[in-house]
Amino acid sequence: MSKISNICCIGAGYVGGPTMAVIALKCPDIKVTVVDINQDRINAWNEDNLDNLPVYEPGLNDVIKKARGRNLFFSTNVDKAIDEAEIIFIAVNTPTKTYGEGKGQAADLKYVELCARQIAKVAKSDKIVVEKSTLPVRTAEAVQTILETSSNSVHFEVLSNPEFLAEGTAIQDLFKSDRVLIGGEQTQKGKEAIEKLVAIYANWISKEKIYTTNIWSSELSKLVANAFLAQRISSINSISALCEATEANVNEVATAIGMDSRIGSKFLKSSVGFGGSCFQKDILNLVYIAKSLGLDEVSEYWLQVIKINNYQKERFAKKIMKSLYGTVSGKKITLLGWAFKKDTNDTRESAAIYIADLLIENGADIFVYDPKVNKHQMLSDLDYLNSRSSAENKNSLTYCDEPYIACQDSHAIAVITEWDEFKSFDWERIYQSMMKPEKVFDGRNILDVKSLEKIGFEVYSIGK
Ligand code: NAD
Ligand code: UGA
Repeated sequence: MSKISNICCIGAGYVGGPTMAVIALKCPDIKVTVVDINQDRINAWNEDNLDNLPVYEPGLNDVIKKARGRNLFFSTNVDKAIDEAEIIFIAVNTPTKTYGEGKGQAADLKYVELCARQIAKVAKSDKIVVEKSTLPVRTAEAVQTILETSSNSVHFEVLSNPEFLAEGTAIQDLFKSDRVLIGGEQTQKGKEAIEKLVAIYANWISKEKIYTTNIWSSELSKLVANAFLAQRISSINSISALCEATEANVNEVATAIGMDSRIGSKFLKSSVGFGGSCFQKDILNLVYIAKSLGLDEVSEYWLQVIKINNYQKERFAKKIMKSLYGTVSGKKITLLGWAFKKDTNDTRESAAIYIADLLIENGADIFVYDPKVNKHQMLSDLDYLNSRSSAENKNSLTYCDEPYIACQDSHAIAVITEWDEFKSFDWERIYQSMMKPEKVFDGRNILDVKSLEKIGFEVYSIGK
């Protein structure tokens, strides 16, 4: 079997960038080119100052420093990269559709389709095309059909190789994956293509962790993995409401049930609700697929995971309003954190956006501090909801690059993201500068409640 020496990846985002950087690092003999139509993004990936990379991810700078310019390249020349590569990864975005059939639930596959068309047009030699994006089950069929419209007589072998990294821990997840999943056709050519991709990962992942399956199982497993993880968060979040009504403590309940090895301790942290670009989109996609197949009960079952998540965000915002004597109108409320989780600059579907929106709707003045998210991003996230005009959003949300200013004269502070630095703030100083009574709403249960209460704060936690 000939060894692969040139691969490319279409899509230089949160998945394409880190994933290909790690492949390049671990496989110095393979030339890895990451391409994107977004010139600004590619420029940022090529920046000398590694602090300006488009994706913030602990450990990513080191990987880029070692591999970029050696065998890792970022470019907007998509055609050239396709032409030269033996394996082409597709890692473009697959957001929830905002129009037409399946609006609000189905995955929008237009970017994937465009990639397939471009590959079909450009390729002059046989290619292995790898679905890295998260896709509905049976997408490979459509990708294969589009590729076969190619006028050049080349052979395309489509594989599914979904990505399981989580943002904030992407580099560690890629270095030590729980598993690498590769699905392909069970034909001779399909099996050969699978082996070529296995050989790449085998450079640093042990063979027992590389699981090969049929292509549909691989596509579906990705959606199901996310659905199961999100389901655990919605399950514990539903119990957090019950805890608040009964004086049970959700942290203790989570620890107690997590000690059962059949349940396990991970993904049981109660929160303001899960965010991120994938959980909601992928579960809605599963809901849509089930509904399309006439499986209404299956569809309803998974939809409930989303409903609890929406309920949790709303419940948190309402709790703030209720404790401020039923009104936040004209009151300064400080949000600590805007990213959907710590150690990332990604804000897609962050709970912060919905909580800020609800509070603004009720007249609050929102001040936000986040160590990695800028003002432009916060405002564009709010504008995207379309609840009010950009000008009104600008009036209602103030970005602060200094936490103590964000908290000064505030009626309430709400911790939305679990950034470690929040734990070591000078809470005594914050207390002195706030409006009375000093209230903190810990949407992540990360603060030391006892020491805050000792200072004089009224602390509201999730599920306690
Ligand atoms: P992203 O939006 O950060 O990046 C996608 C990139 O693709 C963008 O830079 C966009 O400009 C580019 N693009 C779109 N169409 C293109 C085209 N025709 N040609 C060239 N470039 C094009 O998205 P992401 O977060 O990296 O996610 C990509 C896929 O991976 C999604 O399907 C997602 O569900 C999946 N996924 C994401 C994560 C995650 O943590 N973000 C983890 C696992 C899987
Ligand atoms: C998630 C999955 O964990 C990845 O395996 C998957 O590859 C990825 O989606 C994807 O397909 O995009 P990600 O969204 O980056 O990764 O981050 P998570 O760590 O899963 O967190 C998602 C949300 O759930 C965050 O808002 C987080 O704060 C929240 N969460 C997580 C909780 O509220 N409680 C928990 O116990 C864990």
